[in-house]
Amino acid sequence: MPSGPPSLLPNTLGVRCVVGELREVADQDALAESLLDADARGMPATVVGGGSNLVPLARLPGIALRPRIRGLAFERVAADEWRVAAGAGETWHELVRSALGRGMAGLENLALIPGWVGAAPVQNIGAYGRELADAVESVVVFDRHRRVARRLPAAACGFGYRDSLFKTTAAGRYVVLQLNLRLRRRALETGYGDLSRELARLGGGVTATVVAEAVVRVRRRKLPDPRRIGNVGSFFKNPVLTAAELDRVRARVDVDAFAVGGGRWKIAAARLIDCAGWKGARRGAVAVWRRQPLVLVNCGGATGRQVLDLARAVAEDVASKYGVGLELEPAVVGVD
Ligand code: EPU
Repeated sequence: MPSGPPSLLPNTLGVRCVVGELREVADQDALAESLLDADARGMPATVVGGGSNLVPLARLPGIALRPRIRGLAFERVAADEWRVAAGAGETWHELVRSALGRGMAGLENLALIPGWVGAAPVQNIGAYGRELADAVESVVVFDRHRRVARRLPAAACGFGYRDSLFKTTAAGRYVVLQLNLRLRRRALETGYGDLSRELARLGGGVTATVVAEAVVRVRRRKLPDPRRIGNVGSFFKNPVLTAAELDRVRARVDVDAFAVGGGRWKIAAARLIDCAGWKGARRGAVAVWRRQPLVLVNCGGATGRQVLDLARAVAEDVASKYGVGLELEPAVVGVD
């Protein structure tokens, strides 16, 4: 297979990353062939999607493969239950819109999350009280070790808060080909503070479509539009602490905590970053977003390294002030 010219890696952070070759593959066979080709040429192959949760450094050696696998299929399996099969290369928000347009509830809280379907299970996207794992039936993947497609039931995917086996124990092994969801009608999740306030403001009846509309409004207000201001959404995960750790943090700063089971508590990293005085802080071309300090933005011309440098400064300061370590949420790819 001929090698193409060097390209730039698409990413919503808006940083420059030169990749040896960028290739979109439309189906499993093209993906398998490209992986074999990369092996034969002794090149690493990195699989990426929409690039909305990546911090790319200056260069990504080898081949970047984007599985632009299309297809959305909806099937009603019972009066209030649907199955959805979505190709990895579909746009996540389009899937949410299509489901809502067909009267299917269940994905409304996850409206407007940037990126492609294939990346959604990798980080188990979540927002406003719901996460993808709630709706996953199975994930069809290409196993790079055995060079075959496999169907992993949700229980085998190791889903946790912004976590899955795709980024931990099996990192780099599986390429998502298709996501299979099962949506059941159930009570709408409207309890999240920002969301319930927005719904009250909108007034009227609350349907899944109205919830999606409220989520879109909250997101537009708080989060920078990546088409205009480079960002990857939350830059850190919210810390999950034991009760003893929480007590130690609370001796230093007043934070709300949410029980997440197993005697553990989740706190808002945004609150810690805010209290540490970082809101709106700017270092060169990188800044801490004023309306949501968990988000770092590229003010124009920043490099991935500069974004990571500010992230490190924020994390070190939070650690020294409150004794809490912040874990990066996006994936770092490439080298300087
Ligand atoms: N807060 C402050 N100061 C601020 C903003 C927020 O102290 O300026 C505190 C407040 O206490 C607030 C809390 O932080 O209640 C939580 O803020 P927010 O509701 O904006 O949510 P988050 O915990 O910062 C998480 C997700 C988002 C998701 C929202 C809504 C993570 C890492 N991030 O953010 O996901 O949209 O909840 O559910 O879990 C993403 O992953 O990229 C992402 C945007």
